[in-house]
Amino acid sequence: MRNGRFEPVILGTGSACGKAILVGEHFVVWGGTALAVPLTGARCDVKLSIAPAPRTEILFPEFPADERMRKAARLAARAFLGRRARRIEIELASNLPAGAGLGASAAFSVALLRAFSVALETGDEDVIAQKALDLERIFHGHPSGIDSTTIAYEAPCYVKTGDRFVGRARGAKGPLAGFIDLAPGGLFLLADSGERHDTAVAVSAVGRMAETAAGRRTIEKLTQVSETIALQTATALRQGDWPYVGSMMTENHYLLAALGVSTERLETLRRAAVGAGALGAKLTGAGAGGFLLALTTPSGAARIRRALCAAGTPRIIEQTTG
Ligand code: PMV
Repeated sequence: MRNGRFEPVILGTGSACGKAILVGEHFVVWGGTALAVPLTGARCDVKLSIAPAPRTEILFPEFPADERMRKAARLAARAFLGRRARRIEIELASNLPAGAGLGASAAFSVALLRAFSVALETGDEDVIAQKALDLERIFHGHPSGIDSTTIAYEAPCYVKTGDRFVGRARGAKGPLAGFIDLAPGGLFLLADSGERHDTAVAVSAVGRMAETAAGRRTIEKLTQVSETIALQTATALRQGDWPYVGSMMTENHYLLAALGVSTERLETLRRAAVGAGALGAKLTGAGAGGFLLALTTPSGAARIRRALCAAGTPRIIEQTTG
């Protein structure tokens, strides 16, 4: 009770999708551009109850939340509640595997922030996108923002980092980001390798390469090539030139393999997809496992699905363009 009034328990729900990076992952950490699409059928749903309490408590009654999720929840609570003490219960349902390059941590962050926003009737999607990047820092250290941006707006997006866009300027809040257009008619198939990674570990493994002058030069050169790929891919996506988009995805995969973030399992799935007629195929996200992303059109999909299953994938996710 406060000022003679009972404060009710307030409830909020939030849902957020996953994402697939089409081109530019890793290189976006080194100043490049990444393009990503939302995965609208792969989702994280959060239910929140916020009750008055003598001190702040955050509980995940039925979910084995790790320390990073608890920290992210504390940060989200502080962003919406300030110093008001509350007992916050978080229920979570997700069909997004963690450590698989599909944006599970960003989806959790956005779904949670949306639930707070609904419960407290404040905050728009720009606020949620900005705060989601803050929460992502708890999970990944120095995220580029491609995951949180694509997921917060649930739209195909680009993010460009680089010296001019990383918040060094006074008042700058983050990288340059915006929407991209995708024509209809393309179909992305995502095949699970069954292997999992920690994004922060995969990103710092690439960072170790930059500790020598030669390694740094290699990353700079690859980032320049990746930049051209990202720009060409954005144009081809708008035009629906799927063979060209596919060839750019494949080129991007070779650059990522040169960074050392592909695996035998991903290569096996990639060969299977391309052998069955995929227009292009690449690892997606931080790599070191996770999902293979293949591009096709609806008429070519059945053959590629069969080949990916024969190559041992336990799960395929699909996303149409347009
Ligand atoms: O968390 P993942 O696997 O979706 O990887 C994110 C993409 C990276 O470029 C590797 C990291 C980043 O912050 O952009």
